[in-house]
Amino acid sequence: MDTVLEPQPLKELDEWDDFVATRYKQGKSEEEFRNYKEDANPTVTEFYRQNHKYQTLDFVLKKKAEYCGLTRGKKSIWEMAEYLNTLVDDSDPDTDLTQIEHLLQTSEAIRKDGHPRWFVLTGLVHDLGKVLCLCGEPQWAVVGDTFPVGCAWSDQIVFPEFFANNPDSKVPEYQTKYGIYEPNCGLDKVHLSWGHDEYIYTVTRNYLPESAHYMLRYHSFYAAHRHGAYRHLMNSHDEEMFEWVRKFNPYDLYSKGRERPNMKEIKPYYDDLVAEFFPEKIDW
Ligand SMILES: [Fe+2]
Ligand SMILES: [Fe+2]
Repeated sequence: MDTVLEPQPLKELDEWDDFVATRYKQGKSEEEFRNYKEDANPTVTEFYRQNHKYQTLDFVLKKKAEYCGLTRGKKSIWEMAEYLNTLVDDSDPDTDLTQIEHLLQTSEAIRKDGHPRWFVLTGLVHDLGKVLCLCGEPQWAVVGDTFPVGCAWSDQIVFPEFFANNPDSKVPEYQTKYGIYEPNCGLDKVHLSWGHDEYIYTVTRNYLPESAHYMLRYHSFYAAHRHGAYRHLMNSHDEEMFEWVRKFNPYDLYSKGRERPNMKEIKPYYDDLVAEFFPEKIDW
């Protein structure tokens, strides 16, 4: 399969985030939610078609081998944030938030609610894994709802019909309820579709508490944290820790409408916060 020939459907990565935010708009009923396809414009739909087609177990293992050894060089959190910001160079600055602004809006909302410092910091770094896009990864391998590979797909994943084009649909072993996994083996043993969640979790795991690991690693795993799917692969520890994933999610989804962060004013606070948990440079 030649993924290189597929055009990048999203005008910018945020189109996917915006779709998810619309899907889970506050006050929406379960019935309204089920009409999510009405919220998806053709580019978002095409994005999911590609994502569901190409995210195979093989692909995920390949990307983990490629990125999770963290051999791409040392950079500070701020350097990576600045680098990520180059993603939206050409967007209209009046309507679109930069990547750093989304991160700061998320972390500021967490801070205003009086949460611990590590939680605020988790908000600040949660989307830095999107730099994968600048490493040449296609959009479908950076963003999108994540889901386990190597076992049957839940019908709680959006656009499940697109999985028919995934080569794993022809592998009987991957199409059973547990697939290659043991019942309740724990999510740490389960491979999720590759994207910015797993990457930022891997980069930051030595510096943040376990609750932050869960927030970072599973923040796009909507089938599980929003719809309760895949509990047969989770163990009791996962169940407990998913409280944190659910606590984090509203800040990611709903902080966008808030006022633009005043970088000059809040930068000293965040300089201290980053320095409290991270060394000057970390491996990416
Ligand atoms: Fe994200
Ligand atoms: Fe986000």
